[in-house]
Amino acid sequence: MPKEGIDWANLGFGFSEVNCHIRYVWRDGKWSEGEFVKKPEITMHIGASCLHYGQECFEGMKAFRQKDGRIVVFRPEENAKRMARTAERCVMPAIPVDMFVDAVDKVVRANEEYVPPYGTGGSLYIRPLLIGTGPQIGVAPAKEFTFMVIVMPVGAYYKGGLKPVRAVILDDWDRAAPNGMGDVKVGGNYAASLYAHEKAKREGWPVELYLDAKTHQYVEEFSTSNFLGITKDGTYVTPDSHSVLPSITNLSLMQCAEDLGWKVERRPIPYTEIKEFAEVAACGTAVVVTPVWEITRGDDVIVISDKDAVGEHLQKLYETVQGIQYGVIEDVHGWCHEVPL
Ligand code: PLP
Ligand code: COI
Repeated sequence: MPKEGIDWANLGFGFSEVNCHIRYVWRDGKWSEGEFVKKPEITMHIGASCLHYGQECFEGMKAFRQKDGRIVVFRPEENAKRMARTAERCVMPAIPVDMFVDAVDKVVRANEEYVPPYGTGGSLYIRPLLIGTGPQIGVAPAKEFTFMVIVMPVGAYYKGGLKPVRAVILDDWDRAAPNGMGDVKVGGNYAASLYAHEKAKREGWPVELYLDAKTHQYVEEFSTSNFLGITKDGTYVTPDSHSVLPSITNLSLMQCAEDLGWKVERRPIPYTEIKEFAEVAACGTAVVVTPVWEITRGDDVIVISDKDAVGEHLQKLYETVQGIQYGVIEDVHGWCHEVPL
């Protein structure tokens, strides 16, 4: 049962303390058994590779309390596979898919009372984290790693639920090089975007959009989410690029769009095409589907919709994916993984 005394309907997207997280250590070529740890602090070697050389990666998923009381996690196997790809790119040991999903089940179960009640719009955010904890002063991968899964109840990433936001393109900063790390989920990508992100926020834009680093001609993604556009004839379009994170939300929305009989295109999107879109959104675990009503690049201000208008396609996508997650729309693709309680 949900814990009493939490203002479930007004949760933001931030850290809060729960019962525990689960922790595993990789030593001598194998993972330890998982153990629950109550304290949110971690003690590590001062020479840990995550501290010096950024040898770390993470994931993000959500657990939902459905109407019938079941708790489900949305497509955790996909996050497990993505983390395995990221780990390989960062020369870290992969977490086997079964171990990853089992860790998620265990930590969600141990914090069951922090899964927001059905109907509040909240969810339990699940953040797996893999870091090099062995000392490494010459540049090389560590020999010891720590895998943790932390959880916390969250609400909307941008205040107001399905409320459109404005975005900015800041051409002086790139997020990911063409053959860099943009397609994997490493902390360094977010470190690379922090400066521009804070500048954008200070100047009134909650989110910044990145163009391809080489030519600045093609749309890539937002700092925390993928880009999707809906053309005037109702086609779902999303960038095809090696330096964009393959979003599990985007993958799912593309399937929902196809199921709805819409055309879906994954292809390069020139910046000049943005003004042709009828609807634009950011999509991802944290932001779900967040409509973007305006995009500014220097003196060029592209107004996509009215400030408060949510286009019919985005509304439908939002309702469909949230409906599946909260168990009110049939999960025909088997995306919801039930947590054994
Ligand atoms: N792109 C970036 C840079 C992100 O941080 C995220 C969030 O995880 C996404 C896209 C969306 O991915 P997903 O839908 O798997 O959460
Ligand atoms: C997520 O959507 O899970 C993310 O990881 C975005 C995050 C950086 C806030």
